[in-house]
Amino acid sequence: MRIFLIGYMGSGKTTIGKIVAERLGMDFIDTDDYIENKLDRTIASIFDEFGEDEFRKIERENLLEVAKKENAIIATGGGAPCFFDNMEQMNALGTTIYINLTPFELAERLATTNLKDRPILAGLEKGELEDFIASALAKREFFYNKAQLEVTGSDEEIAEKIVQIVQAEF
Ligand code: S3P
Repeated sequence: MRIFLIGYMGSGKTTIGKIVAERLGMDFIDTDDYIENKLDRTIASIFDEFGEDEFRKIERENLLEVAKKENAIIATGGGAPCFFDNMEQMNALGTTIYINLTPFELAERLATTNLKDRPILAGLEKGELEDFIASALAKREFFYNKAQLEVTGSDEEIAEKIVQIVQAEF
């Protein structure tokens, strides 16, 4: 069994993925962490040095690499579903779950983090987040909506829902 968590930055993919993996005795992989460890550099420095297009190629290659793992929960970078045929690949290789939070919820959560760590948001003031996210989601939802399942709620509620889905279906 292989589960891909998808959703915008700040939606809780990593936090939720770790809870679910622990509860179900599965492995947890975060694609951004995987890339950072493998290349020994931060996502921000990859964007800075090579640009977004190159990052998307690296992301794609590593997504397919981690997707070989069995019995894993994979938290994907927020942009991953929106490039190449990454969504189709994930749908073919496992169960995709879209963590669907509102721009308001995402902005509140992201406002407590260091925006400089996320190149797409790095130039923004915290007060600009909600509008920025709303227009980004308007473009990204086309891809996120290709997920097989969709969940909303707090991190704990979503983790519980996913545990129940997995227990019922597998
Ligand atoms: C990105 C999301 C980030 C990371 C990169 C680009 C995006 O991952 O892959 O900064 O385009 O939405 P998280 O969603 O884990 O923050």
